[in-house]
Amino acid sequence: MCGIIGYTGNGNAEKIMLDALELLEYRGYDSAGIALLHQGRTQIIKRAGRVKDLRKLCETVKPVGCCGIGHTRWATHGGVCDENAHPHRFGPVTLIHNGIIENYRELMEKYHLEGRLASETDSEVAAAVVEHFYTGDPYSAIRRTVLKLKGTFAFAIMFDDQPDKIFAVRNVSPIVAALTQDGAILASDVAAVAPFTTDYFVLPEFHVVCLEKEKVSLFDLSGDHAQIDWLKVDWDVSRSGKCGYPFYMEKEIMEQPQVIRETIAPRIRDGRPDFSAEQIPDSLFTDCKRICVIACGTAMHAGLVGKSLIQAMIGIHVDVVMASEFMYNDPVVDKDTLVIAISQSGETIDTLEALKFARKCGSPSICVVNVMGASIARAGEYVIYTHAGPEIAVASTKAYTTQLAVLYLITARMAMARGLWSGEELSDFMAELERVPQVIRRVLDTKEEIHRLSGAVLNARDVFMIGRGLDYSILLEGSLKLKEVSYIHSEAYASGELKHGTIALITEDTPVIAVVTQEKLKSKELSNIREVQSRGARVLLLIKENETLDAGEQWSCVYRLPQMKDPFMVMPASVALQMIAYFVSLDKGLDVDKPRNLAKVVTVE
Ligand code: AGP
Repeated sequence: MCGIIGYTGNGNAEKIMLDALELLEYRGYDSAGIALLHQGRTQIIKRAGRVKDLRKLCETVKPVGCCGIGHTRWATHGGVCDENAHPHRFGPVTLIHNGIIENYRELMEKYHLEGRLASETDSEVAAAVVEHFYTGDPYSAIRRTVLKLKGTFAFAIMFDDQPDKIFAVRNVSPIVAALTQDGAILASDVAAVAPFTTDYFVLPEFHVVCLEKEKVSLFDLSGDHAQIDWLKVDWDVSRSGKCGYPFYMEKEIMEQPQVIRETIAPRIRDGRPDFSAEQIPDSLFTDCKRICVIACGTAMHAGLVGKSLIQAMIGIHVDVVMASEFMYNDPVVDKDTLVIAISQSGETIDTLEALKFARKCGSPSICVVNVMGASIARAGEYVIYTHAGPEIAVASTKAYTTQLAVLYLITARMAMARGLWSGEELSDFMAELERVPQVIRRVLDTKEEIHRLSGAVLNARDVFMIGRGLDYSILLEGSLKLKEVSYIHSEAYASGELKHGTIALITEDTPVIAVVTQEKLKSKELSNIREVQSRGARVLLLIKENETLDAGEQWSCVYRLPQMKDPFMVMPASVALQMIAYFVSLDKGLDVDKPRNLAKVVTVE
């Protein structure tokens, strides 16, 4: 939530920041602002709205300066308006913030701030506290402020009398920093740094970084120099634009064959799953008595598929827990529980906190993360990176299918380590996994057909999605996708559950999407479909290409999924559902990549 950028150097700071804010906008798009420090004077330009609106404003104001900070906001404290947009200024202090200051009311009282603030934000309170402690030594002011704060924060701060310098500090919320050819830069994530350099570092928590034109210096909170651990950007920057697609979501859907291949290929050796590069010992897979997956949203839906696979193929119990609920259900995890934390961003605070708790309880853990060096990757014991590359659209697509790919690999390695499968069974499974990219390509090639079929739900107010077992898990994700990008109310139901209440909502012409991909569930699923059809529902059916359907029945809308073995049907079916959601949003003329009220990275609880 919220994107942060800071730049000092000989380049065009205004342009660098506006371009970076566009790349970071997926983190929040309620308002945007920049501040430039020039000859002891700080100029702030900010407004509610998108970065493009800020850009227009800058064309009129023409700010000057080569040292600046910028922000794109997802509102938490205080509504969406110009005053609440960042940067915030208090005396000589100008500050941007990502996170939540939980004790901001106490701080307001303690430092007599009532009536002295221009906004309703917790962030401005932090700026005022920094100002309170500032007597010319930025480190001391920042250190003393940080010790007073409760909550999460990533701050970038400028002081009027500290020319060309930007200071930053964080707790939980991310900041990365780097040196560029002509300056130094910091940002909420690597996407904004990658156009300038491949070398960057993650600011450690409770450390202060100072950016100057030609150097970056890192200090711990006692003021001692700290060592910088440099990392390398692991994706191809030329792939980070829209590459001719109208929206990132379409581009990211289309990239799936390639990124799934890139995720699985390095982990297959001699036809077997292999995590030696990740240094994951087999004991992790053999010693656990149960598994607990923690994740949110789409990543949690990937976990549900993982649960079905592992329970069916390994025979051990798997819980999938919404990370946001984990702490409120008296979690029982111990040294016998293998915790798998799944997160595209690696920054989702609920997942991070749940993982930290599980580790304190002695649970071994694997994190499945897309962003290199992210907080969750660093908090876990082992990390398996999905190689999805930057996922910019708020709606997750390629991150989900690469997470699934990793879960197939984990299942296979676990079966192998436990000696559960014959050599032939293992090779069959791996061969099917390696076929996934080409099968998804076949779904993508039917783009026009899916676009046409998506018309079945385009004007709906409510859509129901029904299926059992793995099909139900597929639909939970399909339904989330449709909701978030099209604003159509949609619900996934385990179809056996319909008769226990929900079928009351099915009336003449209610659109229902049904997925039937599992042989053992087919006859029951088809019966459930007939039940809704006889109440007037219009059914769009997704079913395997070689299934025969009773000719006597009414199937106005059928999409034939390319054939895979049942456990793998999740892949083509999920991609088809992603495309339905995408085309509905596109045809409604919505901002597909930035749905209302959402942000890509959820760093507040
Ligand atoms: C799905 O399209 C959403 N963007 C959302 O549910 C997302 O998957 C969730 O917030 C978890 O994010 P993470 O994978 O970065 O932890």
